[in-house]
Amino acid sequence: MRKNIVAGNWKMNKTLCEGISFAKELNDALTADAPHCDVVICTPFIHLASVAPLVAPAKIGVGAENCADKVSGAYTGEVSAAMVASTGATYVILGHSERRAYYGETVAMLEEKVKLALANGLVPIFCIGEVLEEREAGKQNEVVAAQMASVFSLSAEDFSKIILAYEPVWAIGTGKTATPAQAQEIHAYIRSLVADKYGKEIADDCSILYGGSCKPSNAKELFVNPDVDGGLIGGAALTIADFKGIIDAFK
Ligand code: PGA
Repeated sequence: MRKNIVAGNWKMNKTLCEGISFAKELNDALTADAPHCDVVICTPFIHLASVAPLVAPAKIGVGAENCADKVSGAYTGEVSAAMVASTGATYVILGHSERRAYYGETVAMLEEKVKLALANGLVPIFCIGEVLEEREAGKQNEVVAAQMASVFSLSAEDFSKIILAYEPVWAIGTGKTATPAQAQEIHAYIRSLVADKYGKEIADDCSILYGGSCKPSNAKELFVNPDVDGGLIGGAALTIADFKGIIDAFK
């Protein structure tokens, strides 16, 4: 069954203390007022072990923002999928455009990361999306189709465990959001790629989130589209009021 999901991506924000208070406050808010969608918070590695036990797992999932493309060994500074899973986290964002652009993550590396995440029981939130020049040249479909190669080597069973997030790079942190029509159009295209590869049933069950300057004021008009199943939220995931406002778009 396809799920509606609102996932927060803290990026490199919040000290450990700030992260702990946020998680407690969010847990209280969603206990008092139950969400009508799945909620996930993706935090820096150092927060995971502290935050995971503080939230009700039925209500809030916890995830990392990345993991290594290697199993273990002499890779100074890296954190493996097994290590992430050992904290109690159950999700991991992979292929975020900031990782692709600033840390050189390639289609092949991401394929390894996705496989290791799945092998360790983590749910990958796999991000794809084009940059502004590609959108202006009308190449967005081509770009996302090429990025999907990282997950199209999975078995149908494994593919059905992942969540996709379409994030146009020109909309991330810029205040510029894709219009609901632009989001719907490319989400439908992404779902058609999944249907071509794995069949209609798996495509229909796949959650495809939108990310890029999503906020309480525009969440509803984006999520109401038939192929937009929620959001991956950056800036607006950093305060309870904004994040809860987006979660409430599903009410
Ligand atoms: P934004 O970031 O909501 O701040 O635009 C989204 C993301 O990068 O996941």
